Amino acid sequence: MKLLRGGPIDEWAGTVARLFIERLKARRDLRVCLPTGLTPVPIYDLVAAAVTRGEVSFARAEVFLLDEFGGVDADDPGRCDQMLDRFLLSRVDLPRERLHRFDLDGDLPDMCRASEAAVGRGCDLPLPGIGTNGHVGMNEPGTAGDSLTRRVTLAPETIAASARYFSHDRLPTWGVTMGLGTLRRSGEIWIMASGAGKASIVRETLSGPMTDAVPATQLRDHPSALLIADDGAAGV
Ligand code: F6R
Repeated sequence: MKLLRGGPIDEWAGTVARLFIERLKARRDLRVCLPTGLTPVPIYDLVAAAVTRGEVSFARAEVFLLDEFGGVDADDPGRCDQMLDRFLLSRVDLPRERLHRFDLDGDLPDMCRASEAAVGRGCDLPLPGIGTNGHVGMNEPGTAGDSLTRRVTLAPETIAASARYFSHDRLPTWGVTMGLGTLRRSGEIWIMASGAGKASIVRETLSGPMTDAVPATQLRDHPSALLIADDGAAGV
């Protein structure tokens, strides 16, 4: 895993957006896996603006949602699909049938198997964020490196952090996430990190022991893994 220092947060967002747009231009049918959370918001803003200007298009792309909170209403603004829609998809030209989200209403194991089948050989490019406990998606400490899409129990610190996304206190305690093994099938993996609050987990991800106690370390030996950190997260 290489570290790419993106500079101050605005510059960092511009760099990630530019690289993402380059990939989309080079391969119009790019299969991307996208997270929600707060980290990607300034990047999605820039990508959406580029689509509005006609510089790039999602018309032939395919978007896979990285994870989803369980036990919350389908129209809760804190749900991952709602956040991705608000911050990016409602502003770009991705045909709705080219979005793969998680339907949590039916049989979950069946849905997870179908999701793995849709990912198939792997996405071209996931851009996950990272939690302060090293989670990627909802792959919490203790997750095996070859884990697949499945229902997971959220770590207490993840539940507490999710309060930033919800306007009520009925915080989710579980979710569905692509596994680390699902992500490892991807052509490239770019982990995005911003803010000083992520500096210590960035350091651990890059140079601490590879262990399931810090899930992100299990992506370190992927041949094309990149951690893109702003000055705060890079500890500058
Ligand atoms: C979101 C996700 C999570 C977040 C992580 C960081 O889809 O999968 O792993 O990327 O919790 O969250 P923020 O970006 O809010 O700091």
